[in-house]
Amino acid sequence: MKKRRYVIAGNWKMNQTPAETKEFINKFIPMVKDCVNSDIVLCVPFVDIPAAVSAVKDTNIKIGAQNVHFMKNGAYTGEISAQMLVESGVEYVIVGHSERRQYFAETDKTVNLRTKAALDAGLKVILCLGEVLEQRENGITEEVVSMQTKLDLLGVTEEQLKNVIIAYEPVWAIGTGLTATPQQADEACGVIRKVIGELYGQNAADEIIIQYGGSMNDKNAAELLAMENVDGGLIGGASLKPEALAAIVAAAQ
Ligand code: PGA
Repeated sequence: MKKRRYVIAGNWKMNQTPAETKEFINKFIPMVKDCVNSDIVLCVPFVDIPAAVSAVKDTNIKIGAQNVHFMKNGAYTGEISAQMLVESGVEYVIVGHSERRQYFAETDKTVNLRTKAALDAGLKVILCLGEVLEQRENGITEEVVSMQTKLDLLGVTEEQLKNVIIAYEPVWAIGTGLTATPQQADEACGVIRKVIGELYGQNAADEIIIQYGGSMNDKNAAELLAMENVDGGLIGGASLKPEALAAIVAAAQ
């Protein structure tokens, strides 16, 4: 028996305009209105946040952002602070996505700073980590995800950890159509859970939500979500179609 709640989160990446956001959400609301055992989150581009927050009002859908800066304010052209997100009605934020690490020079250090800034402001963090193909092929997945978990959570208190969701996202599976097998996903999520146990104790390990992400879709979601250590999904491509995302939510029921 699973005791943890599922969190199904869409990561739209750089897709959908404010008008498309409104249209998507209006279609999506009735499709998921009866969902009771999962939290549903849409992580949208910054400029879509006002439209998204207003469209999900009085529904069971929550809105997230896809990044946050670690400083409170100042001369950081183009950046967005945690307080700005909070005041915009955002409840969640993705931190450390592999595309940020790969294309925007994010390191475990900046991922850690962003995580702490978001938590300090009261946001829930979806912290992404995962190995690249070369690391998996060299048999060091366990070391890599353990180290990322430790570095990215440095200084995060046990109390703050309650607002952290970890998304295990093997980089080779993101946007490639190559999904990790349910066993691979369960194993890596299990490693992360074990590390959380070492850092914060067994209770924290039992409670933390660990998602799988990487080419999850309406076809493979049910078997991934059935795994003991997989408590949800962070979904890119398939989250851009309301029907596909609703089917993943249904698979978690
Ligand atoms: P994908 O993306 O579902 O398109 O592989 C997942 C993610 O990057 O979070």
